Amino acid sequence: MKNELTLHERILSLYRFPKRNNETLQAWDAGDEYLINHVEDLGLEGKRILILNDNFGTLSCWFSEKHDITMMSDSFITHKGTLSNLHRNECKKITFATTMDSIPDNIDLVLMQIPRSNRHLVWQLAQLRGALSASVPVIAVNKAKEIHSSTLKLFEKYLGSTTTSLAWKKHRLVFAQADSPALTEIEASTRWNLEDHKITLDNLANVYSGEKLDLGARFILEHLPSDLGSKRVIDLGCGNGVLSVKLGQLNPDIQITCVDESFMAVESAKQNLENNLPDGFRFECTANNCLDGFEKECAELVVCNPPFHQQQAITDHIAWQMFCDTKHVLTQGGQLLVIGNRHLGYDVKLSRLFGKNNVRLIASNKKFVILQATK
Ligand SMILES: C[S@@+](CC[C@H](N)C(=O)[O-])C[C@H]1O[C@@H](n2cnc3c(N)ncnc32)[C@H](O)[C@@H]1O
Repeated sequence: MKNELTLHERILSLYRFPKRNNETLQAWDAGDEYLINHVEDLGLEGKRILILNDNFGTLSCWFSEKHDITMMSDSFITHKGTLSNLHRNECKKITFATTMDSIPDNIDLVLMQIPRSNRHLVWQLAQLRGALSASVPVIAVNKAKEIHSSTLKLFEKYLGSTTTSLAWKKHRLVFAQADSPALTEIEASTRWNLEDHKITLDNLANVYSGEKLDLGARFILEHLPSDLGSKRVIDLGCGNGVLSVKLGQLNPDIQITCVDESFMAVESAKQNLENNLPDGFRFECTANNCLDGFEKECAELVVCNPPFHQQQAITDHIAWQMFCDTKHVLTQGGQLLVIGNRHLGYDVKLSRLFGKNNVRLIASNKKFVILQATK
C-alpha cells in the first residue's frame, strides 16, 4: 500500500484512520491530487481556505503549509485521521469544525470533496450560499461517474453559477460561486413518525437513512428485548438513535450510551432520545470510532446495525472492529445483538470471536438475520 504522496517535489506521509497493518486502501485519491495540482497552478499564498469533507486530511496537510486552514467534516474519523496526518508530517495547526458549525468569516477559497449524500451536499451548498460573497471560488471534486447532471443542478440551485473541468484520472472538478438569484432556506432536520412504534425522529442532513427507516432497523425493532431491568446498554453505530429510543420505551430503567462516528448522527440521536423518552431517562450520546477508549466490561448489552462502507469504500472491517470492541466492553455473560444482510456472513465472524456455541439466531427473513452472541 502506497503511503507517500509525492507532488511538486514535496512528500507527504499519509495513513487512513485507524491505521491498520494490513491496510489495502490508500488515504488519498486522484481527486485530492487534481485539486492540489489545480490550486498550486494558481500560485496562491496566505489565503484563508475552507476545506469541506477532507477524507483523511490530505488536503489539510498539503495546504496548511502556505495557508490558514479550516477543515469542516461530519466525520469523527476524518477529524482523527486529519489530526494524525498533520502530526505525522509536522504541519502547521489548522482549525477543526463540523458541518453543523457556521461557515467561518472571511474565507478566500473553498475546496470540497463532494459528499456521498445529496442531502448533506445541499446542506453544505446552502450554508456556503448564505455565508460567501460571489467573488469566493468554490472548487469541488469527485469521481467523474459520481458527478451527474442532477449534481450540477444542485450546485446551480443552492450555490450559483457552476462549470466543470475535463476529467483527469477519472475525476472532475466543479467550479462554482455563491451567486444564485435566491437564497434557499434549508431545514436542518427532516422529521418523520414511526406510527407503529409511537416514535418521532429528527434527522440532521448527514444521518444514515435520514429520510426513512432503514429496512434492517425496521426488522430488529420487532425483536428488541424488554427484560433488561437496569442494565447498561450501548447502541453502536446509533444513527438517529431509533434502536435506543425503542429500547428505552421497552426498558425505562436501562442506561444507554449511543455511539456514532457522524457528529450529526450523535446530535440527532440526542434530540430523539430527549423528545421520545421521559425526563430522567439515563443516556449519553458520543462521537467515537467504534468503542475506542471504552472501559473493559462496562456494558451488559450492545445492539448494532453495522455499516458496510467507510466514506466511498465498501468494507466489512468496521463491522469486525465493532464486534471485537464489543467483546472487550461486555461483561461476562453480556450479549451482542446484531442485524445484518444474510450475505454478509456475520455468523461466521461472531462464531470466530465468541465461539460457535455462543452465537444464536434470534430471527430471520428473506433479507436479514438477527444474531445474538454471548460472551
Ligand atoms: C447501518 S447504520 C445504522 C444506524 C441505526 N443504528 C439504524 O439502525 O438505523 C450504521 C451506522 O454506523 C455509523 N458508523 C460508521 N462507521 C463507524 C465507526 N467507525 N464508529 C462508529 N460508528 C460508525 C454510521 O455513521 C451509521 O450511522
